[in-house]
Amino acid sequence: MTTPTKLFGIPESFSEHGGQVDLMIDVVHYFMFALFIGWTIFFFICLFKFRKSNNKKASYHGVTNHVSTHLEIGVVIIEAVLLLGLALPLWKERTDKFDEVQAQDPVRARVIGYQFAWNYHYPGADGKFGRIDRRLVANVGDPCIDPNDPNGWDDYTSSVLKLPVDRPAILSITSTDVIHNYSIVPMRIQQDAMPGKDIPMWFKPIKKMETFVVCGQLCGEGHANMSGVMEVISQSKFDKWAEGQSKESLEKSKAAQKTVASL
Ligand code: CUA
Repeated sequence: MTTPTKLFGIPESFSEHGGQVDLMIDVVHYFMFALFIGWTIFFFICLFKFRKSNNKKASYHGVTNHVSTHLEIGVVIIEAVLLLGLALPLWKERTDKFDEVQAQDPVRARVIGYQFAWNYHYPGADGKFGRIDRRLVANVGDPCIDPNDPNGWDDYTSSVLKLPVDRPAILSITSTDVIHNYSIVPMRIQQDAMPGKDIPMWFKPIKKMETFVVCGQLCGEGHANMSGVMEVISQSKFDKWAEGQSKESLEKSKAAQKTVASL
């Protein structure tokens, strides 16, 4: 059976939780369709019941019973049940799981948005990000790593997001200028990128793929072109790439330290 998400051509889902998001989109569409049918029937009942030939004289009193008040209370109760019984438990499940994901050896990266592209900051072979000092910002998209913190010496940056398949990823989203929105549609996830804040989001890619990440927040004249490339690759390919990048970065940092020391 075709579903609204398939009918309207939403891109294929590639993350573990993506199916749940699609299910929610489908359910909301079915609800809206039921409401549309209900209101349309009500509209035609009104057209027929209150037609001119049947109602010679206008009524100045309107409805005198309390049916509409009761209906409104009913709607408030249904909405409270939806919020307290459905939306909040789903949110709780998602946030509770974050601790679990932290324990599953996730890949971590910082995402730095700027007008008009994305930069990625990986913690390197030691798995530790260097100290972040936002006052060190030298240019747009700068990850602002403190050069004096040894934890940051093997950190590396990339203009492409690479992630291994079947392993959770925790991305910390930030910005060096205005508010952007980091959005990966095939992963069914997005998060605002705010200057001065690192906000985490997590997901688990379940298939190898390559896609675009886009900006989901109007952020200036280049907003529409603010896209980047994301690749989900095998763990071994990822390890090889990460190792090479980290090594190169460490050598450069050590050389820079030597220069500073000799001055
Ligand atoms: Cu950045 Cu729109």
